[in-house]
Amino acid sequence: MDNVAPLPAVERPAGPSEVMAASDLVLGFGDATVMRDITVAFRRGTITALVGPSGSGKTTFLRSLNRMNDKVRGFWRRGEITLEGEDIHAPSVDPLVLRRRVGMVFQRPNPFPMSIQDNVIAGVKAHKMARRSQLRDVAETYLAQVGLWSAVADRLNDSPFRLSGGQQQLLCLARALAVEPEVLLLDEPTSSLDPRSTEAVEELVRRLTPELTVIIVTHNLAQAKRLSDNLILFSEGQLVETGATNALFERPKRQETARYLLGEAGALIRQ
Ligand SMILES: Nc1ncnc2c1ncn2[C@@H]1O[C@H](COP(=O)(O)OP(=O)(O)OP(=O)(O)O)[C@@H](O)[C@H]1O
Ligand SMILES: [Mg+2]
Repeated sequence: MDNVAPLPAVERPAGPSEVMAASDLVLGFGDATVMRDITVAFRRGTITALVGPSGSGKTTFLRSLNRMNDKVRGFWRRGEITLEGEDIHAPSVDPLVLRRRVGMVFQRPNPFPMSIQDNVIAGVKAHKMARRSQLRDVAETYLAQVGLWSAVADRLNDSPFRLSGGQQQLLCLARALAVEPEVLLLDEPTSSLDPRSTEAVEELVRRLTPELTVIIVTHNLAQAKRLSDNLILFSEGQLVETGATNALFERPKRQETARYLLGEAGALIRQ
């Protein structure tokens, strides 16, 4: 591995402003250590972009924040992750409740094989968050929030699989938002979408903060720059540098950050 310099000191904001934090986190599968010594905090109401080369551990880290890796074969963890100061691995924490509070949307839209309306209210029903008579209104509220309502109002009982990829992704966002999460994890949510759908998702993410805290993995550095308040750069399972997005783009402290952010793609988006 090149550039094996000591990890930078991570700025940790004062308690109440941080909604999630990881300290001394080490993650792996079987014999392989995939993430090492990750200490980082996510400030309430902000958008943090996780960037870094393929295989650097972004998805593994993101999925550990709502314990999605728990059932993955061979997965193990050392170190602590907190939500509102509480250890998410404490015996008292129900992973299903954790995943309601820390929602997730994946790279490929994954609507459930049920109607459009049932997709939106699936979690709401599972967590008994509304009465039966309210469910249609809940579906309308969240479909409207993601900008899908006018497109699907007259086909709520249809299959979601006839929607376009972008519309399916917005539907998945509506489903994630309907259970009123505190944190939303997005793993390359626009990488399979066209520019217009990408813009719709970015616009929505912007509108969701500061009520919600968003952590988004992206390979699109222009997107990270447009959208995020803070940036975390991972490389080969380590946190290379973190800080305010503008500061990292303008004045990266580490050579590796400069190389990654201000490489060819970075140079283009700085113009
Ligand atoms: N289920 C698994 N079992 C074993 N190893 C895994 C598993 N999932 C991921 N890994 C390994 O963990 C490392 C990090 O993978 P991860 O998917 O987190 O990277 P990433 O930064 O999200 O990459 P990309 O940008 O391509 O999505 C890789 O070496 C990968 O092979
Ligand atoms: Mg990934």
